[in-house]
Amino acid sequence: MSKFWSQVVHNLTPYVPGEQPKLPNLIKLNTNENPYGPSPKVLEALRAEAADSLRLYPDPDSNKLKAAIAEFHGLSSAQVFVGNGSDEVLAHTFQALLKHNAALLFPDITYSFYPVYCRLYGIQYQTIPLTGSFEINVDDYRQPNGGIIFPNPNAPTGRLLALAEIERLLKVNTDSVVVVDEAYIDFGGESAVVLVNQYPQLLVIHTLSKARSLAGLRVGYAVGHPDLIDALQRVKDSFNSYPLDRFAQAGAVAAMQDRAYFENIRQKVITTRTKLISDLEALDFSVLPSGANFIFARHVSRDGADLTAQLRERSIIVRHFKNPARIAPFLRITIGTEYQCRSLVEALREIEATANP
Ligand SMILES: Cc1ncc(COP(=O)(O)O)c(C=O)c1O
Repeated sequence: MSKFWSQVVHNLTPYVPGEQPKLPNLIKLNTNENPYGPSPKVLEALRAEAADSLRLYPDPDSNKLKAAIAEFHGLSSAQVFVGNGSDEVLAHTFQALLKHNAALLFPDITYSFYPVYCRLYGIQYQTIPLTGSFEINVDDYRQPNGGIIFPNPNAPTGRLLALAEIERLLKVNTDSVVVVDEAYIDFGGESAVVLVNQYPQLLVIHTLSKARSLAGLRVGYAVGHPDLIDALQRVKDSFNSYPLDRFAQAGAVAAMQDRAYFENIRQKVITTRTKLISDLEALDFSVLPSGANFIFARHVSRDGADLTAQLRERSIIVRHFKNPARIAPFLRITIGTEYQCRSLVEALREIEATANP
């Protein structure tokens, strides 16, 4: 704390990202990265970008990338906004579209960056409890609000909300923006992008960090009505003219265009997820249904924090949330390669055997 800090800084509670430890031979299943590398075409595009042209600023509007995203989704470039990771797209969305007199609504258990943005931008919010089975009930959001935001699938639960439920919400919630954060939608869910032409209040946010294996490149985007996109553009152009560098733009274009690679690796993750869930169930875990590249699992009797610590001793890192209390028994486990998931299951068997010799 310092006397030089502004009042805003005094009031912040910054988001704490999952750790990125530098230990050798670690099995890292804590931050929902893809266990497979990006498309070889992305690497080729990045190598081509390492040239004399780096002395020049990149395209401030990332026009080629917007066109590639629009083409992928069958939309127009005017319906696309891009940013430095979907976290930046989310930050601009909170400031541009979700700060109003009525409270912003989001689930009580959700991506923990949402309340952080609210504090940064002075946005009032109200959390809506998930059901007893950790689901979003859209009827609970039928109340006056300054906006609604939720991830689908939700994080850290992994639970999916059906597209028909999102549409049911959009039909009744017409006077404020509904943001669907689809960071994990490519691992088995139905995207709400198909609804953006029909519902001008819908904004859908995607990232290239997960299904396209580019967490290190920092690219995310939003699609929605051009009026919503304009609002984001106005904030971006008042904040940073060049949020995406030349590498990010070139790599992201190649990633959006390589559909075959994308289909292949997301399918591999889904297949490994099915196997991991059945292996964990055989070890007395109950696992929430997951539409994401992670699962949320609790052991019938063992403590979540204790299991996390024991896995860590065996060089396997998973994520554990102490709060709120009702998720404290759970481990959030990223789907790794088949080998990594087998190692996790073996470690859990060993932990069980040591406890009950
Ligand atoms: C629900 C959700 N939204 C957005 C993000 C941010 O992703 P990125 O900034 O890497 O695009 C994450 C990251 O884990 C997430 O879990």
